[in-house]
Amino acid sequence: MTNDPGLFETIYTTRALRRFKPDPVPDEVLFQLFDAAIRASSGQNAQDWRWIIIRDAAIKRQLKEWALEGWTRYAARYGSEEEIAALPRNQRLSLNSVRDLAHGLDRVPVIVAVLGMKGRHSTPGGSTFPAVQNFQLAARALGLGSSIFNLPMRDRLYEMLGIPETNQLYCLLPIGYPVDKQGPLNRKPVKAVVFDEKYGAGWAFAEAQPESGWGDRWLRP
Ligand SMILES: Cc1cc2nc3c(=O)[nH]c(=O)nc-3n(C[C@H](O)[C@H](O)[C@H](O)COP(=O)(O)O)c2cc1C
Repeated sequence: MTNDPGLFETIYTTRALRRFKPDPVPDEVLFQLFDAAIRASSGQNAQDWRWIIIRDAAIKRQLKEWALEGWTRYAARYGSEEEIAALPRNQRLSLNSVRDLAHGLDRVPVIVAVLGMKGRHSTPGGSTFPAVQNFQLAARALGLGSSIFNLPMRDRLYEMLGIPETNQLYCLLPIGYPVDKQGPLNRKPVKAVVFDEKYGAGWAFAEAQPESGWGDRWLRP
């Protein structure tokens, strides 16, 4: 692929994208994403992640209904619409995109349900989320967007999707061709989260680096 971004550009620009064009995602693209996802590591190489591709209109409508319930509860934490409008820009834009995804969930081309085996691993998510990250990075590299979106998660999904009791639903991943741009990420600097030898001890090398990190080395102008 000629436009394939390099690994670091991909990592530095993979953000949660929640608004999608109606264009379907071809099976060969989906296959590439899953084939990249399952290259991830897992405890004892168990590879017991399982993935369900959801494209059925009735299931997406039900997920939308649950997402809207979830959104109502979630948005209430931030107050009225006016209070949300007064939030700092980044927070407001991100909340608006969550709202739009809840309202548009039935129009998202594909939603992937991510499962893992119950009880096998001492850190269960640790054997599933590396594969989710591979999936999202591969999606970004191919010009798609995605985000983890758990507002519609309900126990009833197990029955709806025929998920056996041995499995646990970890997350939902709506995916499609994004309306919004792939983009730089808003993250705390390395120096705020990495310590030298002891918790809380500053790492001098990181303290000497720009607050914005090294993204400029990788992002194309
Ligand atoms: C375990 C996990 C759960 C998440 N759950 C949700 C969710 O339920 N709804 C949502 O809109 N985003 C969810 N996200 C996405 C994060 O909110 C998002 O990545 C974060 O706000 C940073 O945004 P950015 O990647 O666009 O910079 C989740 C991310 C992770 C890793």
